[in-house]
Amino acid sequence: MVDGDDSSVTSFFPATLVPIARHPLVGGLRPDLYEQVLVQHLYRYLDFTAKLEYLVVNRAALGIAHGSVDLDLPEEMRLDALKIYCDEAYHTLMSVDLLQQIVARTGIEPQLPEEPYFLHRLATLRESVDAPLRPLLDLLFVIVSETLISGNLSAIPREDDLLPAVRDTIRDHATDEGRHHTYFAIFLRHLWGQLDERTRRWAALRVPQLIHIFLAPDTPSIRAELRGYGLSRDESEQVLAEVFGGDTVRQYTRSSAQQTVRHFAALGIMDDPEIREAFEREGFDTDLAATEVRAV
Ligand SMILES: [Fe+2]
Ligand SMILES: [Fe+2]
Repeated sequence: MVDGDDSSVTSFFPATLVPIARHPLVGGLRPDLYEQVLVQHLYRYLDFTAKLEYLVVNRAALGIAHGSVDLDLPEEMRLDALKIYCDEAYHTLMSVDLLQQIVARTGIEPQLPEEPYFLHRLATLRESVDAPLRPLLDLLFVIVSETLISGNLSAIPREDDLLPAVRDTIRDHATDEGRHHTYFAIFLRHLWGQLDERTRRWAALRVPQLIHIFLAPDTPSIRAELRGYGLSRDESEQVLAEVFGGDTVRQYTRSSAQQTVRHFAALGIMDDPEIREAFEREGFDTDLAATEVRAV
């Protein structure tokens, strides 16, 4: 909760994890506007989390638990999916609740897009594939996101000067997501074993794009935010180009996705030159050693 002993708090979100905060045009903003940069990042992060959980992950979790995901799975995996469904609903609640508490405490109104960028891009990709393949695309995105998110969360709780409510919420989430990561790595193997060769290839070729969709910065939302601080159009574009341009996002994506790529590589997909080439073209390592996944 926001109330509590947080007298030593210096930030609502670690500035080191807010890419635009490092740019001189943002670092030079008035102190109250600079604080808004961190708060808006926190809002965007919480909104991303809430919508990922209840609009994407929980649809898959419910489908697995309820049996509408048409796969042959051990009964305990259906029950575990129900537990994940409850976890994700709780993560949504904590995210929405924390967001509202920060608004009440700071008086800073969220500048959030109607639809986070990842949802917009996922919907666009979904529209582009044949309808019968869309449920598989949804499952792949959930596998990708559930094996990426645990790494994303683990860096944040180490920050000492963070508002305790933020740190505790993220730390608790990270603990749950560690279990979900293991579950979906195992789920991937069950799924893969029940796809025919042609569908496996189709699925493997979608994975690089799904990783990019999950990890890409929400540049439309950040652009609007920067204009809101009084930066000109040219200045906003300069910040975006210098913070997210060049190889920066690609390097971040490559390192963040290593574990996810390992899970797919362990299925043997990199033996197919076309699939290997697709991963490499999109900036991913394809020679990662497979890691063992054990049930917890
Ligand atoms: Fe979650
Ligand atoms: Fe999860």
